[in-house]
Amino acid sequence: MTTLLTLDKVSKQYGRDSWALKDVSFSVKSGAFVSIIGPSGAGKSTMLRCINRMIEPSEGSIQFQGKETTSLKRKELRQMRTGIGMVFQHFNLVERLSVIENVLHGRLGYKNPLTGALGIYTEAEKREAQEILHALGLGEFMFKRCDQLSGGQKQRVGIARALVQNPKLLLCDEPIASLDPNASKVIMDHLRSITTKMGISVLVNLHQVDVALNYSDSIIGVNRGKIVFNGAPEQLTQDRIHHIYGSEAGELIMDLSEHRRGETTTSYEFG
Ligand SMILES: Nc1ncnc2c1ncn2[C@@H]1O[C@H](COP(=O)(O)OP(=O)(O)OP(=O)(O)O)[C@@H](O)[C@H]1O
Ligand SMILES: [Mg+2]
Repeated sequence: MTTLLTLDKVSKQYGRDSWALKDVSFSVKSGAFVSIIGPSGAGKSTMLRCINRMIEPSEGSIQFQGKETTSLKRKELRQMRTGIGMVFQHFNLVERLSVIENVLHGRLGYKNPLTGALGIYTEAEKREAQEILHALGLGEFMFKRCDQLSGGQKQRVGIARALVQNPKLLLCDEPIASLDPNASKVIMDHLRSITTKMGISVLVNLHQVDVALNYSDSIIGVNRGKIVFNGAPEQLTQDRIHHIYGSEAGELIMDLSEHRRGETTTSYEFG
């Protein structure tokens, strides 16, 4: 597998003595499912946002598809961002618009600002959006307004919008934090099958260690802006979980063996 993304000694400084990230280095291979775990305030969201430069890193290098991203100017940056889809905890949909309209917004990065604003999409783009919605089990909701959907359905719209971008990487910031366990499983199964069936890499911030263990090829543990663990789920021992979360974590997982990467049960066909 080829390397898609590499962070090398990335730091982000906010205040004079306040480092949200310090010397963060890791890489993500094509088609890999990588989870980032760590306590609140550890720097997980900052890390994801530095990757597509929603936040400017203060130091270090970030290479995406072999290209240094930190020095890209506007036009190249826009182009780079089309290769990176974002999925958010609160979905970030336009609630009064239909499902298909929201999904097509994922194509805006490919338009010049004028045609984009006029909402002109090609037939091929509409077909693609419909295919993706069918694959995510949302075919019958295509023309519904988003404010009529459940949280789990909204998040699938969010994933569809990211996928029509034709990305190489999905960055997901706590995609299941607002969902119940059943909807969470559906979303995680979809994200997993996006890696295995479409070869897209998924980098996901999670608060649930058991979910990270279940779905990930590798797990990155962050504490106070530093990577304190980077390895396979099998290597994440109870001691290491304590090290990531600190002593206040308690017994996060009683029996780790129950949560080792299981086969995902849902299967979807992507065109
Ligand atoms: N715009 C900002 N200005 C100053 N400090 C910030 C800013 N954004 C984040 N921080 C600080 O950077 C650190 C990392 O924040 P970040 O949001 O990345 O953490 P997180 O791991 O995503 O937390 P959570 O699990 O609660 O979402 C925190 O100490 C936070 O207070
Ligand atoms: Mg966060």
